[in-house]
Amino acid sequence: MREKNIKDGTPRWRPEAFSTDHGRGVLFAAAAAAAAVPGRWIGTGIESDADKGEEEGEGPDADTGSCYPHAMTERMTPDSIRAAADGFRERYRPGLIRGLLVAGSGLSLEVPGWEADEPVPLTEVFDFEMHELVGHNQTLTLWRRGGETLLVMNGRFHLYQGYRPEEVVAPVRLAGLLGAKVLIATNATGSLDPEMAPGSLVVVSDHINLQGSNPLVGDWGRDFGPPFPDMSEAYDSELRALAMGAAREAGFDAREGVYCAMLGPSFETPAEIRMLMAMGGLVVGMSTVPEVIAARQMGMRVCVLSLAANPAAGLVDRELTHEEVMDEGKKAAEKLRSLIGDLVGKVFI
Ligand code: HPA
Repeated sequence: MREKNIKDGTPRWRPEAFSTDHGRGVLFAAAAAAAAVPGRWIGTGIESDADKGEEEGEGPDADTGSCYPHAMTERMTPDSIRAAADGFRERYRPGLIRGLLVAGSGLSLEVPGWEADEPVPLTEVFDFEMHELVGHNQTLTLWRRGGETLLVMNGRFHLYQGYRPEEVVAPVRLAGLLGAKVLIATNATGSLDPEMAPGSLVVVSDHINLQGSNPLVGDWGRDFGPPFPDMSEAYDSELRALAMGAAREAGFDAREGVYCAMLGPSFETPAEIRMLMAMGGLVVGMSTVPEVIAARQMGMRVCVLSLAANPAAGLVDRELTHEEVMDEGKKAAEKLRSLIGDLVGKVFI
């Protein structure tokens, strides 16, 4: 399935040549279960990697019986993302965008010197189908300082929700097209080190992508940067050093380590956790890596902060629950707020 690129005659992979199911079949089964048992969603200050399948108000889709959106990408192309960026610039006049911050749902941030606009629902920005969550819109907030802007995303997209990789990274594409040079993201994770206490913070130094997908597959690898971007130093060493300092100042027990990305939404098995430990991982989660890959392709510097919310499966003699993850997020919210405020102050001078 190769065709010539009309513009420069080089061979071009077409997305349909790939298996683009991205685990969706598996996700639909999980989605049906989630739809059958309505859960609760409580804003916690940090977004769990395993949170969005349980939100209140999600009814099953009339056609598919699923609470997840379906066939979402038909309209989304590299061109439509560029059009979204043009529309955003026109409508919100952001000036110079310095960076994108992907913080946890419900985390209210404050950074001296920066003022937040009214949050913009992402449904006004992107033309793909999103979950409608009662009381929890996915939003982008513009923080302004003089002629500069920081984009703050509240409520990220996860692969396990059924979003496709290019949809998961749409906010990164938008920010990159608008000139952002830095991505800072937080997430909640399971700890792979039995000695690391819940509530500790890991500044991510590298990742292992076990999600079985990549946001650069197909046309998406061609349009926004090199098709084979280097990932040798995906996590910027200078930002990592700043983050370690800010984390300790905020009162976290902090260290650097490798983030292992699983698709989810089920937690891992103890055997999987032993595998991740043997591979050299320090934390495990279900998000962030697609955003990091897209940001690196676009030349953005990346900093990721992982809250170690729970011991990973099999490391303690009890079941893992989503509530445990959310509770730890709630406990850490204040320190995290202070950490992010401090870090933003140090990075965007
Ligand atoms: N595994 C995967 N993702 C997670 C975990 C975990 O133990 N905790 C929070 N997000």
